[in-house]
Amino acid sequence: MSRDAYVNGRYVPHGRASVHVEDRAYQFADGVYEVVAIQGGRIVDEEPHLDRLDHSLKELRIAWPMTRPALRLVMRELVRRNGVADGSLYLQISRGVAPRDHAFPKSSPRPALVMTTRQARKPNAALLEKGAAVITIPDIRWERCDIKSVSLLPNILGKQKAVEAGAHEAWQVAADGTVTEGTSTNAWIVNDRNELVTRKADRAILSGITRLAVMKIAGESQIKLVERPFTVEEATKAREAFLTSTTSSVLPVTSIDGHKIGGGKPGPIALRLRELYLGYMAAPPKDTA
Ligand SMILES: Cc1ncc(COP(=O)(O)O)c(C=O)c1O
Repeated sequence: MSRDAYVNGRYVPHGRASVHVEDRAYQFADGVYEVVAIQGGRIVDEEPHLDRLDHSLKELRIAWPMTRPALRLVMRELVRRNGVADGSLYLQISRGVAPRDHAFPKSSPRPALVMTTRQARKPNAALLEKGAAVITIPDIRWERCDIKSVSLLPNILGKQKAVEAGAHEAWQVAADGTVTEGTSTNAWIVNDRNELVTRKADRAILSGITRLAVMKIAGESQIKLVERPFTVEEATKAREAFLTSTTSSVLPVTSIDGHKIGGGKPGPIALRLRELYLGYMAAPPKDTA
């Protein structure tokens, strides 16, 4: 089926969608993005994603390209046009198009907005059954990882390292030995008291929308949560480990740097949270049901 992309006010065939060579996202990575899940044709956790987008834009002093209600309409229209029942929507906003110069353009160009959608891929049954292998790598990123910037080189290099090591993800490790997060996922462990441990969402990590939902679900399920950093050593000795993201939902981790976690099998708490989270994705939020 053909699909459209949205580019600066127009719906255009995906294969012909393009932006200007002097778009600042292209030349400087001067832009931000969001990836949202679509389930049953509905955008999952739309408001938290738009709140995070607002945070990223404000921190970089990029204006909204249109009002929030208008953006919601464009997102819905693209999902409708492309007939996406289950999949994801990518949206990117850059500071706009201007002659190349590091400082913000004086002319304040209109921020550039692009959106694309993608149908869900078939779930990777073997990965789900076996759980993910993770390697650890030094976190070489900047000090504002709370901003969902399109500047993703360290994340790309880290993920490629994981792939070349036959692993699914790389957990990034700060200079003090604590895990910050994955290259496109948040990191969690379950300790020997069956408590969930995940890093507090400060400037060292992205405040994952899936992370927020899983925190809420854990609370409703009487699973204790502790928001604090954990070391690689603690993680390799943990009862369970898992990662979260919009595209992976909750994915059990069964090895870290070759050390088996939970006997090398997906843990019960991770599997339960995965099931609860998939149920949460499928159910419309109560206030709009
Ligand atoms: C660095 C990083 N951490 C965490 C996440 C997970 O965030 P979310 O649950 O909102 O997809 C992502 C998602 O892209 C990410 O890039």
